[in-house]
Amino acid sequence: MRIDIFTLFPGMFGGPLNESILRRAQEMGALSIVLHNIRDYTTDRHHTADDTPYGGGGGMILKPEPIVAAVEDVIPLDKGIPVILLSPQGRLFTQTVARELAARERLALICGHYEGVDERVRQLVVTDEISIGDYVLTGGELAAMVIVDAVARLLPGVLGDPDAPDKDSHSGGLLEHPHYTRPPVFRGLAVPEVLLSGHEARIARWRRRESLRRTWERRPELLLTAPLTEEDRAFLVKLAEEELARRMRDEEAVSDRGPRDAAGPGRPPT
Ligand code: ADE
Repeated sequence: MRIDIFTLFPGMFGGPLNESILRRAQEMGALSIVLHNIRDYTTDRHHTADDTPYGGGGGMILKPEPIVAAVEDVIPLDKGIPVILLSPQGRLFTQTVARELAARERLALICGHYEGVDERVRQLVVTDEISIGDYVLTGGELAAMVIVDAVARLLPGVLGDPDAPDKDSHSGGLLEHPHYTRPPVFRGLAVPEVLLSGHEARIARWRRRESLRRTWERRPELLLTAPLTEEDRAFLVKLAEEELARRMRDEEAVSDRGPRDAAGPGRPPT
């Protein structure tokens, strides 16, 4: 896969792209990343890439000419290659989107900066707009790196274990189960017995249940769309019943203590 990245700050990419798995992906030829400095496409003496907004207001806006010139120079726009603008206004980046992008042969990522990008960039060259979360970064560079990382590890051959992406959190719509490695006991905390049993079916069942438990505790909304078996559903009903029983016990304990103690032990004497 080839990814062209358009940025005013190509130096930001040096570290993350040249270490560990992203480096290996490039060395083995699975991934090629080409950085383009938007400033190289400015035509005035001062290499101006931004300007003040029409209509007033604070901040600076990235000018359309250098970005459009850069993209048109590098990307054949009639070939259906996704040209993605990174911005907090885009569709949310998820594992599903990562898989969708990993299936393409080529991508272009445009990193916005400052207050935003002149709207005509969207109208002329952008085909998709992606946000990596509901918060605002100083620019699209870190977002581009997040996308490159999540996509690269899905490319065939990049991870040592070819099944690894299928087992990840979010891949099957659930969070992953807990992991353990040696030693069997650390600071008094033992690895769950079942993982040492060598019994594959029991281990698989334990992992599935812990994955369901984690998702139920941390991201219950994922359960609404995750593919679940009858056995999964029965286990979730059991979790819900346990939680209900726990809550009722807690409420009873509070009412037994009476109204003065109900605020908890931290309450100062009156
Ligand atoms: N640029 C600034 N904030 C961003 C975000 N949340 N996602 C993608 N690009 C951004």
